[in-house]
Amino acid sequence: MTFLITAGPTREPIDPVRYISNRSSGKMGYAIAEAALDAGHEVILISGPVNLPPPRNAEFISVSTSDDMFEAVRKHADNSDICVLCAAVADYKPAKVSPAKIKKSVDEISIELVATRDILRSLGHQRVRRFVLVGFAAETDDLEANARKKLREKNCDIIVANDACVAMETDESELLVLFRDGETTKISHASKKFLARELVKIFSNAQQKSLTKKM
Ligand code: CTP
Repeated sequence: MTFLITAGPTREPIDPVRYISNRSSGKMGYAIAEAALDAGHEVILISGPVNLPPPRNAEFISVSTSDDMFEAVRKHADNSDICVLCAAVADYKPAKVSPAKIKKSVDEISIELVATRDILRSLGHQRVRRFVLVGFAAETDDLEANARKKLREKNCDIIVANDACVAMETDESELLVLFRDGETTKISHASKKFLARELVKIFSNAQQKSLTKKM
């Protein structure tokens, strides 16, 4: 099977030397890529800027902004069997990018932000799709309810939910996996490497099930 995986943060430029980003390390997405490769799958890894070496044997696409990531995902999704959108895409970007460095001339400035394109939602709502679509939900409260709402609204097959305060920048996490049919699986506190292996099994099974249904 071919896995398309997004990982890491995006950077939304303000001017040539400044940007808006977040603390995502990319570790979960890279661990899923490694686990999928170990299980014998093909992997296309589309990654924002992180401090991790690209996995050997993956097709690696390095991107910076949410728009770059959007284009790369749209280009490769239809040739994939499972799309796992693990990246912490910025929700907003500056409405205008200043072509020159903004100088410190006044005491207060404000930056107008506009919403970025939602990559997961756009895949979920594309008219025909043959791939299994997996989203991630990082929440600080009402984990299950918020994640289930995301699954419905973005029309995914699976949402992997975690506590945003625990997951960012750490090597360990605890996950709640929610399926479209209402089923839920919990994977207790473990290393991202272990969690990634379990997730790859869950995603591959879901892809097999969807193939059987279509036959
Ligand atoms: N996502 C995406 N494109 C965006 C924003 C998010 O593809 N522009 C994807 C992420 O990769 C993740 C899922 O959507 O798989 C959930 O992201 P999250 O930031 O938790 O949700 P949001 O929709 O941004 O909602 P909120 O921040 O309000 O919780």
